[in-house]
Amino acid sequence: MEVKIKYLILFFAAVILSGLYACKKPDPVAITPPLPPVVTDTTTLKGVAAFKIGAAIDVYRLQTDPLYKNTLLNQQSSITIENAVKWPTVHPSQNSFDFSGGDYIADFCMANNKRLHGHCLIWYQANPDWLNKFTGDSLAWENLFKTHIQTVVAHYKGKATSWDVVNEAFHDGDGTLRVQDINASDNFDDGCIWARHLGADYIARAFLYAHEADPDALLFYNEYGQEWSDAKTASIINMVNDFKARRIPISGLGLQMHTDINASNDGIAKAIQKLAATGLLIHISELDISVNPSNDQALSYSADLQKKQADKYAFIATQYKTLVPKAQQYGITTWNVGDKDSWIRTYIMHKDWPLLFDDDYAKKSCYFSFRDAVKN
Ligand code: G3I
Repeated sequence: MEVKIKYLILFFAAVILSGLYACKKPDPVAITPPLPPVVTDTTTLKGVAAFKIGAAIDVYRLQTDPLYKNTLLNQQSSITIENAVKWPTVHPSQNSFDFSGGDYIADFCMANNKRLHGHCLIWYQANPDWLNKFTGDSLAWENLFKTHIQTVVAHYKGKATSWDVVNEAFHDGDGTLRVQDINASDNFDDGCIWARHLGADYIARAFLYAHEADPDALLFYNEYGQEWSDAKTASIINMVNDFKARRIPISGLGLQMHTDINASNDGIAKAIQKLAATGLLIHISELDISVNPSNDQALSYSADLQKKQADKYAFIATQYKTLVPKAQQYGITTWNVGDKDSWIRTYIMHKDWPLLFDDDYAKKSCYFSFRDAVKN
């Protein structure tokens, strides 16, 4: 009896197993494992933008503030050196160069795949005392000028993609070339030592010297005020036409765009359009939008001001995206990162909130409007 039951159990087990086998799906054809999905970064500036998004940066902040560094890592695809390679820092005495600050930024860019934009080789401002007091004939001045440009550009060859070669060469009012100080009573020399010692064609020679030192670098002329000074814009365009005729190697134009919530939209659009018509690369190179241009100490950063600022950021980005042909879009760079880093607070000491991030690097409403506007 026991043996019969055993056989019955075995019989039913065999029937069930053979049924299961019959239902089993055929072995799948071996396939290679799928590639990891492409993650589109849809939340950060650099992730969504149709062009490079930059910030000018300060070495000390980069070295000491992890929030600052993280914001750059996450948001920016381009970095401009705000001060570290200007004359007083990089060329502190006639026979010495100090690249430590610029190198720190360049290494950060290389390690984190950020485009590096050098700023600025020749400027009428921010020249060290030793340079202002330099005496020598025109050949000695020319050597100094050429040595500075070529030493700095050669040092960053292969690291800096581009340079602001000459900065702010034209006067505000009538757009003429800065040569002499036109308002001697204000204790500020708005003329230019380079034009005085080297003649009006110093700009062209600066571009030629920079090109000799790094033929691959893109070379920019950088200026402010094109949005409110037709005269300056006209001078820049004349200069570009002259350079093209003489084959002076200029690649692009920087519109600094230190502006404010009351600036004329029409002026901004016209400036972008006129400069884009040169066919050169166009870089909005130093963007910030003041909400308190008259430095009213009683002002607070109201919801109304935040909204006006957010609209202006969006307007500028939209105009850039639509008026500058894609191939000429070198990008938009803000002049530093958080409000507390802005030159408007640290240099001209105004009470203001001009940037995309607040003092703790939290995103402001203008961050979101700007991000929407730069979207591809
Ligand atoms: O390096 C010293 C530092 O050692 C010292 O502790 C500190 C305290 O006073 O001063 C530091 O240098 C200052 C530097 O900013 C860094 O804060 C300089 O004195 C000061 O002149 C310098 O100001 C810069 C200014 O250009 C002049 O070079 C601003 O940060 C910078 O934002 C501003 O940038 C210019 C662009 O280059 C051209 N377009 C306009 C724009 C705004 O003015």
